Amino acid sequence: MGRGRVFGLLGFVCAALAAATAVGLCAVARADPETAAGRVGTHEGVASCAGSTCHSRPVASGLVVRQNELITWQDPHSDAGAHSRAWRVLTQPRAQAIVQRMGLAGPAQSAPVCLGCHSDPAPAGRRGARFQVSDGVGCEACHGGSGGWIASHYAIGATHAANVSRGMIALDDPKARAANCLDCHLGGSGPNQFVTHQIMAAGHPRIAFELDLFTTLQKHHDIDADYLARHKEAPGGVKIWAVGQAMALERTLSLFGPRTPSGAFPEFVFFDCQSCHRTISEDPKVKLTVEANPARPIPLGMPPFNDENMIMLSAAAKVAAPALSARFEEESRGFHGALAKNGSVAGAQAAKLAETSRKLADAFAGHSFSRGDTLAIFAAVLTGETASRYSDFAGASQAVMGADTLLNALVAEGALDRAAAAKLRPDLDRAYRAVRDPNAFRPADVRAALQAAADKVRGLK
Ligand code: HEC
Ligand code: HEC
Ligand code: HEC
Ligand code: HEC
Repeated sequence: MGRGRVFGLLGFVCAALAAATAVGLCAVARADPETAAGRVGTHEGVASCAGSTCHSRPVASGLVVRQNELITWQDPHSDAGAHSRAWRVLTQPRAQAIVQRMGLAGPAQSAPVCLGCHSDPAPAGRRGARFQVSDGVGCEACHGGSGGWIASHYAIGATHAANVSRGMIALDDPKARAANCLDCHLGGSGPNQFVTHQIMAAGHPRIAFELDLFTTLQKHHDIDADYLARHKEAPGGVKIWAVGQAMALERTLSLFGPRTPSGAFPEFVFFDCQSCHRTISEDPKVKLTVEANPARPIPLGMPPFNDENMIMLSAAAKVAAPALSARFEEESRGFHGALAKNGSVAGAQAAKLAETSRKLADAFAGHSFSRGDTLAIFAAVLTGETASRYSDFAGASQAVMGADTLLNALVAEGALDRAAAAKLRPDLDRAYRAVRDPNAFRPADVRAALQAAADKVRGLK
């Protein structure tokens, strides 16, 4: 399994052509870029990207791109290899059990409800000869079907803009990247890109996502001079984080709308899991585990909407989009309040809030985040009014990922040196430990760890 096996499968494809002189000659032209239909290009399959002169060089090239992207993609020992394993996990007992409990005719590795995210979801009509479902989340699941550009993207003089016009997805653009990752790491509008409460109840893990952190975890590129020379955007981590939060809330709300009115109950995955899954005690001395949340005007006993992205956005908007901030706060409160009272009003509120989230994504995409902004957002996320909202496990987990991303951004921007950042690590580790087990989650532990980290940064200024 792992590197040896998959490399064995894919590496041969271009081996015969490895003697070719120019980079990429092995990606034999078989699609006419002029006729292939732009954004809906054929997905040619991971094997089409392989080869030692293409994207599976044994070691990084130091040339235009690393060329060992495929090796990173299938690294068996790290998160960076997760996408090549995505289909294989469906063959394992945990996945089979999920499908069985759902009462589906298995096996999981051929169940459409799983394949929408655990493989490249290109429809049958857009799969090239070498497309393999078993490749999992292949290159083209993120970079776009290559039918229109595979033959031209490595040519001398090929530009990013030309590639994009032929159907490559502009993953350097934070909004385009967020839209792509969220299809699987939150949910898409297609029929098989959504983890319902039924799938979770059958044993699917919860899905946590933060755009910048997850980009780093699966990173297989360098942002260097020629990356920029190819007219690629290289937004800093804070911008990616902020745009990611706005896009995630917008996505959540637009999925919530259509999925709400099915049956007597709304789709439960949109709500705080623990609000329904707490233990019950009749001991009169027991302390309730539920906390009042100042930003959610809902009575005790109602399941609260999962507001992890809403909280992060609130902190980011105050600093980087102040003109939209008051409206965002008002609409967020309005949405929570309406949910507890009136489903149809909540639908209208969701649409308004989704629209404001879209505007925030645009505002962040156009904002140049200064060091001062990053410091202010860091303080806002880790302390004070924002931290008072970490009453739910998902919100607290998102805050911990945000703290990690923002700390890395402070170092990258030169606001903190590495030695100072290292002093904050134990606090962040403590915060991560506090959100490891949802059943043992105590909001005060997370707040204390984040506050300690924030105090150290304040002490430095
Ligand atoms: C909306 C996209 C989506 C759908 C649909 C989906 N999954 Fe997943 N699945 C994910 C993501 C994302 C993860 C990784 C979660 C994490 O760690 O953050 C995951 C993780 C898993 C894991 C754990 C993998 C590991 O490495 O431990 C299993 C098992 C799994 N999914 C099985 C299934 C099965 C079976 C189905 C169909 C019934 C299914 N999934 C449907 C997105 C999806
Ligand atoms: C999970 C999504 C995802 C998958 C799967 C993926 N990539 Fe990427 N890739 C990215 C992101 C995000 C970037 C960084 C943004 C950018 O420059 O496009 C990137 C960057 C790259 C770059 C550098 C581009 C440049 O201009 O410097 C290359 C080359 C690349 N990927 C090739 C591959 C190949 C080959 C595969 C399959 C083996 C693959 N990628 C799989 C998301 C993905
Ligand atoms: C077609 C669906 C799909 C797309 C698009 C996608 N992912 Fe994933 N991703 C998955 C699945 C499924 C897993 C879990 C695989 C496993 O655990 O075996 C995963 C796992 C990961 C992991 C490993 C950590 C973890 O929680 O398991 C990272 C990091 C990651 N994805 C980042 C990204 C980023 C960044 C993007 C966008 C550039 C992206 N993904 C786009 C489906 C997708
Ligand atoms: C509005 C209430 C509600 C919310 C919110 C909710 N659930 Fe559930 N959950 C239920 C109900 C009801 C059942 C079915 C219990 C039964 O059949 O006895 C259930 C069952 C489950 C089970 C199976 C438990 C077992 O031992 O059989 C799991 C796992 C689960 N939910 C996970 C989650 C996760 C993860 C979330 C958050 C993403 C979540 N739930 C959100 C109400 C909820």
